[in-house]
Amino acid sequence: NKIVLAYSGGLDTSVILKWLIERYQCPVIAFCADLGQEEDWEEIKQKGLSCGAEKVIIRDLKEEFVKEYVFFAIKAGARYEDWYLMGTSLARPLIAKEQIKIAFEEGADAVAHGATGKGNDQVRFELTFSALAPHLKVIAPWREWDFKGRQDLIAYAQKHGIPIPVTPEKPYSIDANLFHISYEGGILEDLWTEPPEDMFLMTVSPEKAPDKPEYIEIEFERGEPIAVNGEKLSPANLLKRLNEIGGRHGVGRIDMVENRFVGLKSRGIYETPGGTILHIAHRALEQITLDREVMRLKDSLMPKIAEMIYYGFWFSPEFQALKTMVEQTQERVSGTIRVKLYKGNVIIAGRKSPNSLYKKRLVSFEEKEGYNPKDAEGFIRLQGLRLKIYNLSKEEEA
Ligand code: ARG
Ligand code: SIN
Repeated sequence: NKIVLAYSGGLDTSVILKWLIERYQCPVIAFCADLGQEEDWEEIKQKGLSCGAEKVIIRDLKEEFVKEYVFFAIKAGARYEDWYLMGTSLARPLIAKEQIKIAFEEGADAVAHGATGKGNDQVRFELTFSALAPHLKVIAPWREWDFKGRQDLIAYAQKHGIPIPVTPEKPYSIDANLFHISYEGGILEDLWTEPPEDMFLMTVSPEKAPDKPEYIEIEFERGEPIAVNGEKLSPANLLKRLNEIGGRHGVGRIDMVENRFVGLKSRGIYETPGGTILHIAHRALEQITLDREVMRLKDSLMPKIAEMIYYGFWFSPEFQALKTMVEQTQERVSGTIRVKLYKGNVIIAGRKSPNSLYKKRLVSFEEKEGYNPKDAEGFIRLQGLRLKIYNLSKEEEA
């Protein structure tokens, strides 16, 4: 009887909006999640209404996104297949969760999204729907209608008086939020093609970055960044600040081919300036505050955590269990990291923490108190015991 659509204001979701009304003959509510992408929300609202939406609801989710999703990923050190900081993957469960909330508030019985049938996003949306609202009907127009691609969409838009963007279509697809911008598809599908310089929206190229390095200090409390250069900032404002600083030094560009959950390899270009600084600075702080074995355990689980986020299992029991573990490891991860930004690089220039486990007195060559090098003798002898036995028995066999 009523559908809530995750709406971006772009051509795809505008066509979907119209198509849903026609196909299901019921009111559709367009929901826009403001995750910090640069948009003219008033214009999007008008567009949604002109496409027939009963209501356009815009929710500012920036602070929740950064605090609960982005900062968790920083604490976990989460990177998918070594490189991807998962700016899109982290946003989807939050958008879907809010969409469900709106469905309840508005008495809707169905939710719809504009992700294609070939990607990760459809999975992430629908796994979140399954976990949080199993009774809602899910509509995925890209898997249901007969449109083949862009041309069909444009034809439908023309027929139904849906405004078609006057600016020429970018030859690739973009997904943006406060953490990152991703670029995929179109001209980027040729792996031998370098992305055009004017594609990048958050960063300058390292060649164009200043010839002078810039130093900044980031303060963390329990693994979470709370201040930049001594100024306390809310999560969203802190990330915004670091995006500006990192962006002008060309920090955080990635060009990779990744494995999608559905089994396809795809090429993605990402820019994550502030996030890249945070990942590196946070790690530097963990180096002095985490116990070795806690660090080993956490590191061994990181690829699993990243995979769960990438696949869309944020609201799963296994992810919640690991989340609790990661949070616990961050108890002592407080302190300040100084970094130098220079032409795309993030270089550590200083670390300090009231919880530091680094004891200069113990490690330095001059002092012997608290660590007796004589103890190392037996330690090494026993560590080597099985190696001796192994090799002696091989000699005997020969
Ligand atoms: N490949 C990335 C991911 O799966 C980015 C996806 C971009 N999504 C989009 N709707 N443009 O997380
Ligand atoms: C899409 O298919 O809608 C975007 C790409 C992806 O989700 O992986």
